[in-house]
Amino acid sequence: MNNAKQYIENHKDRFLSELFTILKHPSISADTAFTQDVLDTAELIKKNLSDAGCDATEVFDTPGYPVVYGEKIIDPNLPTVLVYGHYDVQPADPIHLWNSPPFEPIILPTDTHPDGAIFARGASDDKGQMFMHIKAFEFMVQNESLPCNVKFMIEGEEEIGSPSLEWFVKEYKDKLKNDIILISDTGMISNSQPSITTGLRGLSYMEVTVTGPNRDLHSGLYGGAVANPINILSQLISKLQDENNKITIPGFYNNVEELSMEERAEMAKAPFSIDDYKNALEITDVHGEKGYSTNERNSIRPTLDVNGIWGGYTGEGAKTVIPSKAHAKISMRLVPGQNHEEISELFAQYIKKIAPQSVKVDVTSHHGGHPYVTPIDSIGYQAAKKAYQATFSTSPIPQRSGGSIPIVALFENELKSKSILMGFGLDSDAIHSPNEHFGVFNFLKGIETIPLFYKYYTELSL
Ligand code: BES
Ligand code: MN
Ligand code: MN
Repeated sequence: MNNAKQYIENHKDRFLSELFTILKHPSISADTAFTQDVLDTAELIKKNLSDAGCDATEVFDTPGYPVVYGEKIIDPNLPTVLVYGHYDVQPADPIHLWNSPPFEPIILPTDTHPDGAIFARGASDDKGQMFMHIKAFEFMVQNESLPCNVKFMIEGEEEIGSPSLEWFVKEYKDKLKNDIILISDTGMISNSQPSITTGLRGLSYMEVTVTGPNRDLHSGLYGGAVANPINILSQLISKLQDENNKITIPGFYNNVEELSMEERAEMAKAPFSIDDYKNALEITDVHGEKGYSTNERNSIRPTLDVNGIWGGYTGEGAKTVIPSKAHAKISMRLVPGQNHEEISELFAQYIKKIAPQSVKVDVTSHHGGHPYVTPIDSIGYQAAKKAYQATFSTSPIPQRSGGSIPIVALFENELKSKSILMGFGLDSDAIHSPNEHFGVFNFLKGIETIPLFYKYYTELSL
């Protein structure tokens, strides 16, 4: 058994109980009812960083939730790895669909995880994955094998679009100086086929309000004679995609980078079963843009989805009413070539242009983020690849993900460094959903693999 494996075996119960303590804090950044819990979690992460061996740790105030920072600089001439993660989580709703309380972590076996999975909000996204880095660091310090400098930057607003992070990164540019950024906040194909995320989609998140009459109206007395905002909003939404599921906003696809046939053929080699996919989601068929495969639709193609729609009467029984207002939250996932500010503007213009005179339409933008792709010939990618090869005994596949981590493009622009996305989660982890979980295997495998990234990255840098 190698040193890391032995160390993990000896300390895994403590690792899990420390992670449980973090998971018990409901650090929901979206809901101000949990403000104190978010702040307490920041302090707890700071303590974990210093216990693991950081020489300097700090909780930095921002206009929003704090950023937790820690570092260990062993030699300024050696490379510096900046670890990024987030300690905030998504709301747990709908709570009644959880089989166990979301903030009372529990380990249970599943079909995918016969050795057990940790069930809790944030287990995979991102407390469990972020914590792997703290424990991998602890191992390197204890084993005296830390080969380079480390900085940790763990934020508390990722799930709400990182509103303070641009300010923070600009303000602390010198402190954050690094050679490579290392992030575990994505997934891999399966426990027997690791993959390294080489791309993230961007995001443009909009809210639309359609206003009709100045008050709710009796739908008999007024029905048919005034615009119903819900009817109008539904019509507007249905005009955003055509019969081939292409987005109809003029200019939307203008700068989309198309992949070559060779690149698409390469992508198609990744193991994937459409039947397993349908069965896992209990859907009778897949759906999406004509001319593209499921894996292309959810990674290299842009999308438009309604995330929420409301208005009128939704209580018990029936109420005959024409509502005064209708609302929808609509997000667009963007791919390289698309700029989120431009896309948000095109969306707003188009919605207003196609809306009838009979209603007023307001469009606001929530948050956005630029897409990201990283080359696979960099030493960062090569180091990650060698690390997975060593611990999984098989080569990881590069894979572009459909999710978004807007900070990654910002890091590249402001800090001029690339991010390596070593995710150990699985799509089946149910992140953002009820019963989120993270395999114990994945958690421990991450702790075993990360120190090898440091080793190979430092060797390849010198
Ligand atoms: N960790 C996820 C993103 C992710 C998950 C990327 C799995 C790839 C694979 C992150 O916490 C997240 O949820 N991001 C949000 C965007 C954010 C601006 C709210 C998302 O993708 O919806
Ligand atoms: Mn995340
Ligand atoms: Mn998330």
